Amino acid sequence: MAAAKLTALVGTDPPEHDIQRRMLIPSFTVKRVNSLRPAIRRVVGEKIDALLAGGRTTADLVPEFALPVPSTVICELLGVPYSDHDFFEQQTSRMVQATSTAQQASDAAAALVGYFDELIAAKEAKPGEGLLDELITGRLATGELSRPELASIAMFLLVAGHETTANMIGLSVLTLLEHPDQLAEVREDPDVAAGAVEELLRFLSVADELQRVAAADIEIGGVVVKEGDGVYLPNAAANRSPHVFTDPDTLDVRRGTRHHLAFGYGVHQCIGQNLARAELEIALRELAVRIPTLRLTEPLEALGVKPGGSVQGVFRLPVTW
Ligand code: HEM
Repeated sequence: MAAAKLTALVGTDPPEHDIQRRMLIPSFTVKRVNSLRPAIRRVVGEKIDALLAGGRTTADLVPEFALPVPSTVICELLGVPYSDHDFFEQQTSRMVQATSTAQQASDAAAALVGYFDELIAAKEAKPGEGLLDELITGRLATGELSRPELASIAMFLLVAGHETTANMIGLSVLTLLEHPDQLAEVREDPDVAAGAVEELLRFLSVADELQRVAAADIEIGGVVVKEGDGVYLPNAAANRSPHVFTDPDTLDVRRGTRHHLAFGYGVHQCIGQNLARAELEIALRELAVRIPTLRLTEPLEALGVKPGGSVQGVFRLPVTW
């Protein structure tokens, strides 16, 4: 990922991080996410209806399914107008693509924070519904959060809430199309979908290369990492470790995958993981069931993948049915 400095959540340390995280946890519990499942089903259903409308038989699933599903869901959760999606999707892409310069990434992050600054002011004047509105009345009005802090948190939630899941939906569809036997299992047995999501999270590890700065000298495997050194943590490699997973390079939706690191590890472990799981499960299963003849229109090699250092994914996913 290009180096936009983050001032919220993953960009903070305890005790500031604990305070921010505690404010958000209630909105991402399994129970809360389960209450969002009907809304997620509706969003997924609408996107598939649009694909099938008017007897069409081709589409690019990135702009028509993989991206709008999580974008719409995170907008509804936060209370952000989806009509602004072109703006925030473009800025997000500039912020996280490895091909962006550090300056471009910082400018994009600043544009998104500026957007939230204005949205917060508009919501203060005319409150709406959503997590952002709850944080305005419950934390901003009480002085617990300043406006720049809230704008940074909201920006991070919006970016993290759609970019990773969108890439994961796109790559998962592609991977299942390349493994038709596994796709058939997801289509034919509704109980397989949740396990398939865990296995795809492990297998694809889209948010690879987590970054940290060593807080003290530490020896790992005979190598001393010095205090202040930057460290990349390749969670994709851990998720393919033969010491943990039998035959790790094989996709097996019935593996019973557990303890993968696709959502990170420790205090910064993904706060949106329950939401991501629900979105992936519903999106992949509904697509498999409602469009059983789905297939690529171009060879896999022609698609190209996002450059290393970005959230892993494809730019386009041309399909027919
Ligand atoms: C498949 C989709 C997703 C993947 C693979 C993913 C992956 C990750 C990973 C690996 C981290 C840890 C980063 C680190 O330690 O440096 C993380 C953190 C985070 N994720 Fe996700 N994520 C996904 C979806 C979501 C969603 C839907 C949200 C919703 C808002 C979200 C919000 C966050 C937040 C706020 C953090 C920072 C948590 C903290 O610092 O305490 N993510 N995610």
